[in-house]
Amino acid sequence: NHDLAQLVETSDEWVVTRTGIRERRFTAEDEFASHMAIHATENMIAKHGPQVLDGVDLVILATSTPDALLPATAAIVQNHFKLKAGAFDVIAACPGWMYALSAAAAYVKSGMAKKVLTIGSDALSKILNWEDRGTLVLFGDGACAAIVEAVPEGYGFKSFVLGADGEGAKHLNMRCINTTLPDGSPLTEKVSMNGREVFKFAVRVMSSATREAVAKANMQLTDIAYFVPHQANFRIIDAARSSLELPPEKVVSNVERYGNTSAASVGIAMREALDDGRIKDGDDLLLVSFGAGLSWASSVMRWHAKTF
Ligand code: COA
Repeated sequence: NHDLAQLVETSDEWVVTRTGIRERRFTAEDEFASHMAIHATENMIAKHGPQVLDGVDLVILATSTPDALLPATAAIVQNHFKLKAGAFDVIAACPGWMYALSAAAAYVKSGMAKKVLTIGSDALSKILNWEDRGTLVLFGDGACAAIVEAVPEGYGFKSFVLGADGEGAKHLNMRCINTTLPDGSPLTEKVSMNGREVFKFAVRVMSSATREAVAKANMQLTDIAYFVPHQANFRIIDAARSSLELPPEKVVSNVERYGNTSAASVGIAMREALDDGRIKDGDDLLLVSFGAGLSWASSVMRWHAKTF
């Protein structure tokens, strides 16, 4: 925060009070989403052994900051690890990785793929307006990687809720090829956001999407061991927690150290809660995310601590 206060009119105190964020990580000038995606996959190999990638037949990579429009960043990862796999990107803003998880789960369930390397990687620092204090302080860069494959009976994904409301496009957007939205309103060259509108939407949808995912899984909120929400703003997380009447110790949050890492945020939070021993085999987790679109995704899953 102190570094950013050198660039725009803000302060550590403002950012901490309004968002809970103290630190975030930015990629170097020559590092992009593919580098972080490869790095996250290498971390997975370091933890589980090289056999973790054996038999991967599909790579799905969620990002809003692909290295290029062509090729897919997923294909760069496929080539790096020399996987005999299909590869495509998912662009669905911050919930992108959860959309990717839902696609991976559906591929596995249908038999169209056996083992899906499912990555969220975003280098938001590359598309921020470094003069806009309203967005600059919120985002960080990061990546997560996971394997989705068949699990024993009782484990795995129990529900997915995916939603979008394109009416809200005006609240959070950035230009790519077209320079306007369908209604003619201009798209900005870098990310622009109406923070207040997104805040209200986020609190509302985090709570409704959570309840929907739990109901779809035929469970109760009290069955959930850990709530792993998108890490955008601690006030949003806490407002959702409070409306869901969840005890604070069931909420995984690391927004303080990473800011909003977009498609990587839920995965990084899960990884930390696994590493520190909170999430254990058989725990029921509630994942929820929201972002530009406006869009959202939630899921209930039973964690399977597999050894590869
Ligand atoms: N430092 C200091 N002041 C800032 C600032 C910053 N980094 N960013 C904005 N401000 C100013 C605003 O310009 C505004 O000034 P004004 O009243 O003179 O216009 C003032 O602070 C208050 O703005 P407000 O929007 O009421 O603040 P807030 O309490 O709603 O917090 C956000 C602003 C952006 C932190 C908050 O709205 C938010 O988190 N929104 C959701 C964003 C999000 O999650 N986006 C990602 C979705 S995936």
